[in-house]
Amino acid sequence: MTNRDDVKTLEWIGDADGSLRLVDQTRLPGELAFVECRDVESVWQAIRALVVRGAPAIGIAAAYGVVIGTRGALSMRDLAECVTKAADYLATSRPTAVNLFWALDRMRRRCAALCSASLDVSAARTALLAEAQAIHDEDRRTCRAIGEHGAALLSDGDNVLTHCNAGALATGGDGTALAVIFAAVRQGKRIHVWVDETRPLWQGARLTAWELAQRGIPATLITDSMAAHVMSLGKVQAVVVGADRIAANGDAANKIGTYGVAIAAAAHGVPLYVAAPTSTFDLSLADGSAIPIEQRRAEEISAPHGRRIAPEVVAVYNPAFDVTPARLIRGIICDVGLISPVTRDGIARAILAKPQPAATTAPPVFPVAE
Ligand code: MRU
Repeated sequence: MTNRDDVKTLEWIGDADGSLRLVDQTRLPGELAFVECRDVESVWQAIRALVVRGAPAIGIAAAYGVVIGTRGALSMRDLAECVTKAADYLATSRPTAVNLFWALDRMRRRCAALCSASLDVSAARTALLAEAQAIHDEDRRTCRAIGEHGAALLSDGDNVLTHCNAGALATGGDGTALAVIFAAVRQGKRIHVWVDETRPLWQGARLTAWELAQRGIPATLITDSMAAHVMSLGKVQAVVVGADRIAANGDAANKIGTYGVAIAAAAHGVPLYVAAPTSTFDLSLADGSAIPIEQRRAEEISAPHGRRIAPEVVAVYNPAFDVTPARLIRGIICDVGLISPVTRDGIARAILAKPQPAATTAPPVFPVAE
């Protein structure tokens, strides 16, 4: 699978003059094809077209895109201009996943630090590549930690429902929500996964089902509209999803349909966990109402795969994400531990906490002192 050495979701090829190789996620599961990005425009297009997708993976791709943008810089002044230009442009590719802006800010800060040290351009470009690779490597470790923290919440024999794809294809490592399932399986727990197909772009059917099949984990694909029904039958013990941006109070934006799943889970007493790295938190936003929601093309709904299924005259509304209120989230599984209950204080404490090694048994909990 994508986190094994043979197939990588994102891979940098070569030195600072190299290129970014991406699994083309628009072609899966039918074809395992790759896209090679050698200029900033192709990185922007890859993010926009969901060739690379999932909040952490978008951030990693953008960081490498900044390195690509510095090709041809002749002086440190040039370099700073190239970084600003590339980062400003890549920031316009998609609006919701905050990991994109987090990674671009990190690249800008690194560039500023390099500019104040007296390095030559070539050494500075190598240092920028090292920063992008550090973002990528850290994400691998982050995924591993999320998996270990979250696995403790699952029991042998559980049926877990997930929405969209928060797996190895969405990150630099094993994923977030799927990392929890992968870690539980590694611990010897028998887990069965309900996979929401995830309309309109089928990240669940195309990508999550593929990742689970690659690993031999039992899974059943359902339409999004069946989630409440399988919960009503007592066939779901936990819901685990990823996130694209989490506000300071714990409201979490994720793929459209997650909010509906959360309402159904609450109605049936099924715990819903959001799995996300600390880079997905946006503490500048008091709550989820300020999270920018990406609107996508009408044809994704009215003409999927180029085949028109609705009259051209009909109006289409196509928000790519929705916001699940914190009150519907039992816990946020992040790299520094489990935040439960989900409150502003608990989040602030967890995010300010020093990163810890992955838990092997019970995850650290950040409760709120009322
Ligand atoms: O539009 P996408 O496919 O980029 O949306 C992805 C999601 O909503 C994921 O659940 C989220 O980014 C978490 S990925 C670890």
